[in-house]
Amino acid sequence: MRRRVAGCTLCSLCEGRTNAVPGSGSAGSRIMLVGEAPGRSEDARGEPFVGAAGRILTEALELAGARRDSVYITNVVKCRPPGNRVPTDGEREKCMPYLEAEIRLVGPSMICVMGNTALGSVLGLEGITRHRGKVVRKGGRDYFVTVHPAAAIYNRDLLPVLRADVEKLVRLAEGGPA
Ligand code: URA
Repeated sequence: MRRRVAGCTLCSLCEGRTNAVPGSGSAGSRIMLVGEAPGRSEDARGEPFVGAAGRILTEALELAGARRDSVYITNVVKCRPPGNRVPTDGEREKCMPYLEAEIRLVGPSMICVMGNTALGSVLGLEGITRHRGKVVRKGGRDYFVTVHPAAAIYNRDLLPVLRADVEKLVRLAEGGPA
């Protein structure tokens, strides 16, 4: 799967990328986190969430008692859109089989969609403010919704919201109370 992503030419995002960015983490992780698309740092390193948003996410996980290497982290779209624009519907659709394969291979007990792009692409829902902090059951799987970590860079009020959500996610994935 990583090899297929690395050489993917299914959409035009392949033309501007330095590296395609498959998910990272181990098969068997109980938690999978899904963001939008790689940014500049991720494109340069070929790894998801290694820039500023990644630091916020890693910190939230650690505060919740989960090490970053104990979860699987990925994105809806595996290549950086030019200028970090939101990926188009066509780009998301072309890339979706990779995310579906990651879900099958990793088999997480909880999949956390972070932000509106992941919420719409994965669950077909709109309105992150309305859905965040909640579990959505779909196709026999449990999904948890939270804000995108990058949103907390621009709006510091979202930092405690993200941290509380990640704490709840970790608790739920361990079979704890909501
Ligand atoms: N934002 C995302 O959605 N994904 C990344 O990997 C980095 C920033």
